[in-house]
Amino acid sequence: MARKIIVTSALPYANGPIHIGHLVEYIQTDIWVRFQKMSGNECLYFCADDTHGTPVMISARAAGVPAEDLIEKVRKEHQVDFAGFYIEFDNYYTTHSPENKHFSELIFKRLSEHNSIFRKIVKQTYCEKCKMALPDRYVRGTCPRCNAADQYGDSCEVCGGTYQCSDLINPYCATCASVPTFQMSEHYFFRLRDFENQLKELIAGGYTDRLVSNKLQEWFAAGLKDWDISRDGPYFGFKIPGEQDKYFYVWLDAPVGYMASVKNYCDKNNLDFDKLWNSGEYELYHFIGKDIMYFHALFWPAMLLGAGFKLANRLFVHGFLTVNGEKMSKSRGTFIKAGTYLEHLDPEYMRYYYASKLTDSIDDIDLSVEDFVNRINSNLVGKLANLASRSVPMLTKALGGKLGRLDGRGSELIRKLVSAKSRIVQDYEGRNYAAVVRSVIDLADEANRYVEQNQPWVTVKDDLETTRKTLTATINSFRILTIYLKPILPKYAQNVQKFLNAGEFNFSDVDIVLENHKINSFERLVERVDREKVITMINESKETKGPEPKEKETETESIKPECTIEDFAKIDLRVAKVIGAEKVEGADKLLRLELDVGGAQKTVLAAIARAYEPDDLAGWLVVYFANLKPRKMRFGISEGMILAAGTGGEDIFMLSADDGAKPGQKIS
Ligand code: 2FM
Ligand code: ZN
Repeated sequence: MARKIIVTSALPYANGPIHIGHLVEYIQTDIWVRFQKMSGNECLYFCADDTHGTPVMISARAAGVPAEDLIEKVRKEHQVDFAGFYIEFDNYYTTHSPENKHFSELIFKRLSEHNSIFRKIVKQTYCEKCKMALPDRYVRGTCPRCNAADQYGDSCEVCGGTYQCSDLINPYCATCASVPTFQMSEHYFFRLRDFENQLKELIAGGYTDRLVSNKLQEWFAAGLKDWDISRDGPYFGFKIPGEQDKYFYVWLDAPVGYMASVKNYCDKNNLDFDKLWNSGEYELYHFIGKDIMYFHALFWPAMLLGAGFKLANRLFVHGFLTVNGEKMSKSRGTFIKAGTYLEHLDPEYMRYYYASKLTDSIDDIDLSVEDFVNRINSNLVGKLANLASRSVPMLTKALGGKLGRLDGRGSELIRKLVSAKSRIVQDYEGRNYAAVVRSVIDLADEANRYVEQNQPWVTVKDDLETTRKTLTATINSFRILTIYLKPILPKYAQNVQKFLNAGEFNFSDVDIVLENHKINSFERLVERVDREKVITMINESKETKGPEPKEKETETESIKPECTIEDFAKIDLRVAKVIGAEKVEGADKLLRLELDVGGAQKTVLAAIARAYEPDDLAGWLVVYFANLKPRKMRFGISEGMILAAGTGGEDIFMLSADDGAKPGQKIS
């Protein structure tokens, strides 16, 4: 029986253009949706622009336009970019909509009624000049850990450290450069902790893949924190009912935007929203990137559980895009906007390339320029399209464009290609597109070998009917491989459909052989990639001014790059004895420790003052990171670091060495 499926991709933020990093996800989802549709399932793909929050408000102010105008303009641009890459939504909406307001308020109301919302006074950073509370991303200053200048209010891009905004040294407002103040304000919080058991059950039940659930276990182990869901005005968003100047935090109404887009589609098409969104009749899947796992695996299901809505069947998480092994970068020209790409290159190159790299894992995928050019030119053009370009013109010119019947060897080849179907279907379903592409290329190799063995360009001179048989098998092979790739290459497949003159391809057509069939004239399907065009595109994308982009308003757990055992081996851990400890004036979290590391004496500034009294520490044997480069901090130089565990504040537990250990001794 045909399945009914609803699919979403993360809603792109309305504060910047779509770029090739975003496209990994939209292409991944679009391929999956097209595959489901081609398999005879009802599959609806929903998305919207994520429009609220401080970045949009500030961009609109800077442009001197109302935020509503800015988000509509950006939404149109996003839609043009998506269409350019053949990403086909069933509905593309906006979070700034009456439907989204309705569901955000409804969820908030239900959560409040179930005592899942409480209020608490918080200390927030405030800019007197801009007259607004500043999110961490809008405060900059010197990193309290490594002293790097110009870092964000919550994390340092140089040392990777995360910290409280109030710890930033010499903070300033990123918009107007004035020194921010602090202000107390009442905020609304969602009791995420109350949902811990239900969330654990959900994850244990296979809501996410194993690697993702491992990450979630870390978050459970660290303890879930209640979630601040309000922001003070001025803020571009939905006002909290009953409040004068408080708004829902953008991340509260963003995922609700999935529902709103479905609701809007149902209303336009006279369909029952409850059936599509909230019944067991439809499966629901969210595609997201690993940077927003916290929101989709914890906050969002907890909100739905608390408000009595059904949960998604599964969360599909992908990794980030790197280009030539590095983060996308404006200065290197690898932060390539969708629009710039489309000015230079065929969108199906990108669809094919990403598909050839995508698996079900959360590993990052790398776009290497050389690999991109090679895969397109040798595989897509050289192996696949070549099957058609060497046989179709021959059939139309010498044989009136008429296919004949398969002979024995031809039937054998076709049988082989058809028998790969179940594996290919399984790989699409499991988002292992790299395996799909590999299978198709292997099969194309088989088909090309068949052509080489039968040499139609020789037989065409004196044996037309043998040639017709060979071309019939070749063109049928090409047709089957095109059906297999149609979710990845929709435009290419459409052109093939046209010249094969056999209607729309679906997966069920793989089992049909075209015999005694007249085909139309041939159009060239795909050109080789011109490497020079790739280079021009990169050069055009180079920007020398300004920081690397940070278009999102997000507060979540940071995900650090993978660390190899070789990286770890660089760390020299030693036993150190605390021979003195004192408070650091002006730094309420720091203690200055004097350590004996086997004769050498070292001073370390450690952020453990809330957990330990200095007088209690003398004589402790601790684990010391001996070869950490000394760091100049505001309160002096810190030579190395001591290791501790815990979540911070009072929950810090220094790791101690064995009683029998000697200061300076290496720890392995
Ligand atoms: O990470 C982002 O770019 C967010 N705009 C994604 C939102 S997804 C959903 F929750 F709306
Ligand atoms: Zn300011």
